[in-house]
Amino acid sequence: MPLLDVNNLSVHYDGIAAVNSVSFRVDERETVVLIGANGAGKSSLLRAVFGLIPSEAQKLDIGGIDFWQRSPRDRVAAGLSLVPETRDLFPRMTVEDNLKLGLFLKKAERAFPSELSRICDLFPVLAKRLKQIAGTLSGGEQQMLALGRALLQGPRLLCLDEPSLGLAPKLVDDVYAMLAKVRDTGVSILLVEQQARRALDFGVRGYVLNVGRIVAAGTCAELKEDEYVKGAYLGEMPS
Ligand SMILES: Nc1ncnc2c1ncn2[C@@H]1O[C@H](COP(=O)(O)OP(=O)(O)OP(=O)(O)O)[C@@H](O)[C@H]1O
Ligand SMILES: [Mg+2]
Repeated sequence: MPLLDVNNLSVHYDGIAAVNSVSFRVDERETVVLIGANGAGKSSLLRAVFGLIPSEAQKLDIGGIDFWQRSPRDRVAAGLSLVPETRDLFPRMTVEDNLKLGLFLKKAERAFPSELSRICDLFPVLAKRLKQIAGTLSGGEQQMLALGRALLQGPRLLCLDEPSLGLAPKLVDDVYAMLAKVRDTGVSILLVEQQARRALDFGVRGYVLNVGRIVAAGTCAELKEDEYVKGAYLGEMPS
């Protein structure tokens, strides 16, 4: 059974479709990537999945249950967790307090020490900086913090909106290494990326979004060999 199953999802801004009848699914323990250029509708799609913006859909099931009319809070409680494009940290709060917010929904403050040590094991870079003010972290560290906070929610499906955005290649390597560790813990991942090669090297299955529509889908191995994907997204000339 798919963990997330979406049928004909659309988002309109002022009557113009930014996401146009998009259907996709993510299975249990699967890593799915969604690639697309600037303005393709990637962030709008993720925001709609979380119920953060108005949208239309035929179906939005989480774990086989209909969540279409349910609140963002319910969707998170059902196991979805988002690392937004803008990271949305609280810059004047400490790293530790930002992490604590990951437990807000569960009202599980007592669980914080054990959850915190789990996250610190995964992210040694955060462990060293728990008392530091979040706004003074480097870009890469902020991305780790956003990821750590999302993981504190104990998600079944971690959704990431361009985690490599604005990071130097070395830091992008670090973020992907972290994601690989997260995947190894059994969490499903929906990764939205503009850096197509990175994403296709990381994922198992993928979709290509172009001007709001899915224009290609398949295993990442298939997509890497697809002439259209190669030409438009991987910077390769047609052979
Ligand atoms: N609040 C809004 N009001 C009007 N138009 C919007 C709004 N948000 C996004 N759009 C438009 O919708 C389209 C899709 O935007 P979106 O941010 O979802 O794309 P994206 O694939 O995430 O792009 P990027 O790679 O730059 O993050 C764009 O044409 C954008 O200008
Ligand atoms: Mg975006």
